[in-house]
Amino acid sequence: MASVKTMSAGEEDFLLRRIKLKVNGQDYVVGSGIPPWTTLIGFLRETVKLAGTKVLCWEGGCGACTIVATVPDQETAGKFKTFSVNACQILVYSCAGWSIETIEHLGDRHKGYHSLQKALSGFYGTQCGYCSPGMIMTLYGQLKASGALTASQVEHSLDGNLCRCTGYRPILDAFKSLAEDASQQLKDKLADIEDAYKAHCPETASACKRSCSGCTKGSGSCSGSSQNEDVTQPEDFKLTVGAVQWYRPVSIRGIKNILKKVTPNEKVCIVVGNTGQGVYKDDGPYTTYINSNSVKELYSITIGSPLTMGANVSLSRVIEVFKHMAISYPGYQYLKTFQSHWELVANVSVRNIGSWAGNLMLKHKHPEFPSDIFLTLLLANAQLTLCHADSLTTTQIDLEQFLQTDMSRGIILSVTLPPMPENVKVQTFKISPRTVNAHAHVNACFKMKLDPVDVKILEKPFLLFGGINADFIHAEQTEAYLVGKYLTEVVTVVEAAKILANEMTPDAKPQDASPQYRKSLAQSLFYKAVVGFLGDKVSGDIRSAAAILERPLSSGQQGFDMNEDTWPVGKGVPKVESTTQISGEAAYLDDVPPLHNELHGAFVQSSFANAKIKSIDASEALKIPGVVSFVAAADIPGRNSFIVNAGARPDPVFVEEQVKYAGQALGLIVADQRATALRAAKQVIVEYEDIKKPILTIKEALQQGRSKIVMSEPYIFGNPEDALNAAKHKVTGEQQQGSQFHFTMEALAGRVTPTEDGYDVLSTSQWPTETQSAVAQVLNVPAHSINLAVRRIGGGFGGKISRQNIVVSAAAVAAEKLKRPVRIVLDLQTHMSLVGWREPYMSKYEVGFDDDGKFEALKVDMITDVGHVANEASVSGLGVRLQNTYYIPNVLFRPIMVKTNTAANTWCRTPGTVEAIATIENVIENVASYLKKDPLDVRLINMVAPNVPRLLTPPHARNVVNDDILPLLIQKSMYQERKEEIKIFNQENVWKKRGMSIVPLWYGYNYPSVFRYGIQVSIYEHDGTVAVSHGGIEMGQGINTKVAQVVAYKLGIPLEKVIIKAADTMVGANSIVTGGSFGSDLCAHGAKVACEALRQRIDVVRAKMKNPSWVQLIRKCHKNDVDICERYWTAGKEHPDSYDIWGACCLEVEIDVLTGQYLIRRVDIIEDCGRSMNPYIDIGQVEGAFIMGLGLYTSEIVKYDTNTGQKLSNSTWEYKPPTALDIPVDLRVTLLPNASNPHGVLGSKATGEPAACFSYVVVTALRAAITAFRAANENEAWFDMDTPITVEKVHQLCGVQPEQFKLSTSTDEFLDDFCLISKDQVYAEVATFCPVN
Ligand SMILES: Cc1cc2nc3c(=O)[nH]c(=O)nc-3n(C[C@H](O)[C@H](O)[C@H](O)COP(=O)(O)OP(=O)(O)OC[C@H]3O[C@@H](n4cnc5c(N)ncnc54)[C@H](O)[C@@H]3O)c2cc1C
Ligand code: FES
Ligand code: FES
Repeated sequence: MASVKTMSAGEEDFLLRRIKLKVNGQDYVVGSGIPPWTTLIGFLRETVKLAGTKVLCWEGGCGACTIVATVPDQETAGKFKTFSVNACQILVYSCAGWSIETIEHLGDRHKGYHSLQKALSGFYGTQCGYCSPGMIMTLYGQLKASGALTASQVEHSLDGNLCRCTGYRPILDAFKSLAEDASQQLKDKLADIEDAYKAHCPETASACKRSCSGCTKGSGSCSGSSQNEDVTQPEDFKLTVGAVQWYRPVSIRGIKNILKKVTPNEKVCIVVGNTGQGVYKDDGPYTTYINSNSVKELYSITIGSPLTMGANVSLSRVIEVFKHMAISYPGYQYLKTFQSHWELVANVSVRNIGSWAGNLMLKHKHPEFPSDIFLTLLLANAQLTLCHADSLTTTQIDLEQFLQTDMSRGIILSVTLPPMPENVKVQTFKISPRTVNAHAHVNACFKMKLDPVDVKILEKPFLLFGGINADFIHAEQTEAYLVGKYLTEVVTVVEAAKILANEMTPDAKPQDASPQYRKSLAQSLFYKAVVGFLGDKVSGDIRSAAAILERPLSSGQQGFDMNEDTWPVGKGVPKVESTTQISGEAAYLDDVPPLHNELHGAFVQSSFANAKIKSIDASEALKIPGVVSFVAAADIPGRNSFIVNAGARPDPVFVEEQVKYAGQALGLIVADQRATALRAAKQVIVEYEDIKKPILTIKEALQQGRSKIVMSEPYIFGNPEDALNAAKHKVTGEQQQGSQFHFTMEALAGRVTPTEDGYDVLSTSQWPTETQSAVAQVLNVPAHSINLAVRRIGGGFGGKISRQNIVVSAAAVAAEKLKRPVRIVLDLQTHMSLVGWREPYMSKYEVGFDDDGKFEALKVDMITDVGHVANEASVSGLGVRLQNTYYIPNVLFRPIMVKTNTAANTWCRTPGTVEAIATIENVIENVASYLKKDPLDVRLINMVAPNVPRLLTPPHARNVVNDDILPLLIQKSMYQERKEEIKIFNQENVWKKRGMSIVPLWYGYNYPSVFRYGIQVSIYEHDGTVAVSHGGIEMGQGINTKVAQVVAYKLGIPLEKVIIKAADTMVGANSIVTGGSFGSDLCAHGAKVACEALRQRIDVVRAKMKNPSWVQLIRKCHKNDVDICERYWTAGKEHPDSYDIWGACCLEVEIDVLTGQYLIRRVDIIEDCGRSMNPYIDIGQVEGAFIMGLGLYTSEIVKYDTNTGQKLSNSTWEYKPPTALDIPVDLRVTLLPNASNPHGVLGSKATGEPAACFSYVVVTALRAAITAFRAANENEAWFDMDTPITVEKVHQLCGVQPEQFKLSTSTDEFLDDFCLISKDQVYAEVATFCPVN
């Protein structure tokens, strides 16, 4: 057995009062030195000092913290089971007897890598790498649990792991390559990758022979012993830490005994998976924890009729049982429906540990919780067995009685599910803002006992709803109405839907979908269920109403050229950091070990958006043990602004008097532990005065006159006024585009350490120079005293250009005040509310055009919401951008800014350009709608011709989209054939509609003169290896790899000889921000020039030698006093020439009109990337930007409390970036062949940003699908599509009415529909007119 590490000392009975667990094969004993509320991730990172497992949300919603646990299987004595779990949820005290594996155990560069790791790296599945350990561990858990995996299992396993960079396709390909049913192409690629690595056994360090017992079957690597042989023996157990008790009873009697002793002052929590805290974070803190994981009875399952399952059975295990029961036991086929429904609850890692009973208790405590478990069990008429601490007997109750039962001393023991007769039909639905890992807008369950012949409803049906309001479960009036009715009667269905709407009053909470949608959705789901129950009794074209959208297995194709003559430039080499990312070795800011005496900061934030601070009282917070100080504006020695060059207007680190937005920093609590600081920050009492209603939207700001026309004169091209007046056709319109959180997987963070020569600063900064200046400004110290280095950041997307400076400035003030190192790592809620996001936009336009749709004139106002201060507004340059690939002979463009009571909005991937292109594409759609033309025809007719000047845009020698890309795209995507197929599909399906659209792109790429970076290339005479440092920041975009490739190419050495060091403010002094896709280009350019200079010097020496090796040559240079280091400054005047980036994208979508859900069926992108420096990196940039843009336009929405101004979208529960199951089912990306760029760097073009502009195509395709439905219902009018187009919007734009709930399109029903009388009555009337005989 491995040696035991005790994690607490000083207690005599420590070994008795202990919790034992294994981490990566090493035994650990946890005692009272670690408080009971410590999560496993806290233990792993802070105590065990394993930094490979990352953390972001602390609520089970992102998957960054996934580890694998092997735990005693309480269902089967002596057995163990293995699964993935979120370490941010489970408490370390619950892990008694567990064996934990973290990413460090799988493999690293010393002991070799696991196949999952190799695949992820080899398939280019890492960019910033922050999500990578979690991704790998999720799959590792699945692999260990189920043995071999199928591609479908792989895809569904990743329902809880978010990645903001890659767009998921390469991650899915990587893991699918290990699946049994992987395509040959993926298998071949994996074989190549395996060859590139040498597998080493982590146990013996010698080459893996795949023969030891711990070797994971087929995984290609060993996991080592993961089973905890020394399982903590079941015994009642109690540990007291201060006023908090942790109990681990082994029997129900034990739980009852504890509950009996609980006094009213104590707050008790029965801990199973502890995932409930991910949903309701403020339910604690608790004084008494009862961990029921050792109570075997709570895990028992009786398979049979009836089915009984103990309270602690996990959701994943229940799903397995449902699957088995549905096929093996008569009367339990309904569990197939439940299985599908429960698979949509939370995500794999939550379901692996979360219990059904824990879920019911969330519903019990919070009746508004749209629990899927509650609703489905209620439908099944399940009976709960409960016991009460003070009673010797157990009771059986149904789910509705349960909600009324006092559970303060109650324990759920088990649930019993009865069989259902064959003629009872069951259907359930969960409609959520995102495909997976999202709570329901509305969930609904339907059950009807039907006469098999005439489908009469034989007894009162069940119509159950969640997500309406806390009290509404049964639609009682509708249920009563339906008894004895015939389901085939359309009048019954329509009338029932109307009664349903009348009897429900959905809550109107700002964070929820609108009451109108939820009501209409409830009606639609009822209709869906009816159509499903009727099966082939409804006509074929209506039948599509019943099914939810089925997502097939996704796939991707990538096409590109690779030219060997410049290798390794142009070669698809893996990212230079990927091998450390896949092993968890790549260190992000919070992975840096703490210094002696280090403190942690947590922000105190404003609760109001528009108010004055009356007083701040931190005295209660300061009493909490461990709290060291409260730091506020008065402590700032320098200027109270974290802005220096990122705009000109001050933005305070801490508010002094007037609060400008809810979430603004009022001060910082500093404590010895991060958890203590966070807890204490909530105890600071703030009094406000002069509280005013906040202005939160562009429209409100315009009404209040808080707007500013950025330019004194608008941008004008031609004569727009006259041309508009003369235009034959004119339309006007308005369009709103929403905000977007950058959602970097690594949160903003900073650490400041006072040192002998100033301050050592770590920061998650995209712009170290600005961060250095901000700290110098806030502390009022010289810039040279700030030593700042950035190794990498876990995603940037513009969110770390200036916003990190709030964090690091606050840490600096605290460090200076306390003369100790201070670290701040934002939790997700603070991050989302403290800083601004992508700017929201509104466009107003008037366009004139001819009969063909050719533009004659366009007047556009683009209005941006800058937040409370305008430092990063991108609006002024958008007049150029909005021309896209089109020629508009007369243009007037007015950029306008408004201020709101929100955090200052920031640049976010392709800022403004995305919105400008969306604006013009929306105008095109409007013109096409007006003329009843295909929007593609309007696009084509407006394409800019060669050599024609445009607004502030020099003529293009060619329109590459028109000439090359569109013809190729139309051919590759089989656009015309699919257009016909879509037409037929739409004719044949009333309730499912498809739409397809093409959006072109022109992206003028001019290197701004202020974009300059310092680069140093140092060759070491010892062995000829080369180290490079540059002023750019690696944040996933592959800048380091591209720079290394250029250096290797230019020096003529193998890539392995080149290493890229962290960026710092010495080599990179005065460098500009890494952003706008400029960093990779210019740093590669700088490296190229530096290497050319080196080559000039070196080649003089080489010429005098006879075929020397590289090392010989370098040594000789050194000996001859040749400087083998070179620094280059990419001065604006020496920038490479500007160039154009062209592209086009075709997207097909299918919508489910009744719910608003949609599926992106296929996407084809062709982008001109010049001659790519690294095609896989560039494909990754294109895919990642595109998927991020899809999030912007579909599921990512910001909501505020309109009274206080608080941002309600501040967690993974409320904010939904795309998951792996939201991306296009078929994603094909081609880098335009033969497209070498005579300008730019080494023939390449930038790829980080442009592809985000394609994403608006999802809106135009959705418009086509929605239009198809509206047109079928004789509504051809133009409609606005303000973005994001959420599922709610799709449904609402379709304008579904219960009168449309047909069951057949026959004349018979036509009569029903209009008469709204029963079929019997119609038949009677017909009989009167047409008597038999
Ligand atoms: C990211 C995420 C997404 C989610 N999505 C969904 C979703 O889409 N739909 C949905 O329905 N749910 C969802 N959930 C809720 C999830 O299903 C529950 O968190 C989980 O089932 C709770 O189980 P647990 O074992 O972790 O409970 P715990 O967190 O351990 O306990 C929860 C509560 O139950 C009490 N409790 C536990 N066992 C008993 C018992 N035997 N007797 C009495 N009280 C008991 C505890 O005291 C505590 O108050 C989501 C959760 C997360 C974190
Ligand atoms: S940090 Fe644990 S799931 Fe996000
Ligand atoms: S690589 Fe996945 S979040 Fe960056």
